[in-house]
Amino acid sequence: MNTFLAKQIVRYFVTSGHKFGHRVHSPFVFELIQSVFLAKNSRSTFSKIEKRRKELLRDATEITIQDFGAGSKRNASNVRKISYIARTSLSQGKYARLLYNLIQHCKPKTILELGTSLGISSAYMAYGNPEAKVVSLEGSETIAAIARKTMHSCEIENVEIVVGNFDETLVGVLSKMQSVDFAFIDGNHTKEATLRYFNQICEYRNSQTVMIFDDISWSEGMREAWNTIKDDKRVSISIDLCKFGIVFFRDGIVKQNFVIRY
Ligand SMILES: C[S@@+](CC[C@H](N)C(=O)[O-])C[C@H]1O[C@@H](n2cnc3c(N)ncnc32)[C@H](O)[C@@H]1O
Repeated sequence: MNTFLAKQIVRYFVTSGHKFGHRVHSPFVFELIQSVFLAKNSRSTFSKIEKRRKELLRDATEITIQDFGAGSKRNASNVRKISYIARTSLSQGKYARLLYNLIQHCKPKTILELGTSLGISSAYMAYGNPEAKVVSLEGSETIAAIARKTMHSCEIENVEIVVGNFDETLVGVLSKMQSVDFAFIDGNHTKEATLRYFNQICEYRNSQTVMIFDDISWSEGMREAWNTIKDDKRVSISIDLCKFGIVFFRDGIVKQNFVIRY
């Protein structure tokens, strides 16, 4: 863990409001805490996805990847074991379940993900609303091919994986989607890229859109990006969970920023 992240975690535990929402006066956020953050899931719901995660964690096959992300500083080589990617890149159960619960609650019809990796978070989101169309963007073809196998083994048919650099694929994907109800931004964690993706996706938002940014406390740049996003005039409610930052664009709600213990 880097020093910046460690300091942010301490700040979060000192400033975050109570997990059960007792001191949250926004009815919208109180409702969200009760039905999403405190939701209890039956583990069997995700058994196929978690079985697939275990397989990936055990898979010592080496693959050559094309690496675009800011996280690539950690490992300069382009040859990685699948087990290494599974251990270091994928959303852990608690956060993957949060994506699932948010989608169950908000019922988005169009879901966009930036950063498919091996397909674990895409699978959770697809399970959240099997009626939704999930479009997930991944730079590396080798990784995307493994993600497609994840969809197959979890019997998921509502995920489309688009391969290429976000900077080249996002514009076309957005104009095809026309409206984005839910977006999970989990790749290329730099300040500039994060703000660029936020502004691009904002053009396709509606009043029900939810956007989630992963790793908002990972670096100073990501924290600065988050501060700009949460203060943006278009955002009505922001929720800082230290790892995830969530923003809503609801009409008729007083603009408020929350830091909630999760
Ligand atoms: C943290 S992983 C995604 C994890 C996945 N969302 C999950 O939780 O299961 C980020 C992925 O984004 C991809 N990526 C990063 N920057 C990219 C870019 N500029 N264009 C395309 N893909 C990119 C990487 O190849 C990597 O697979």
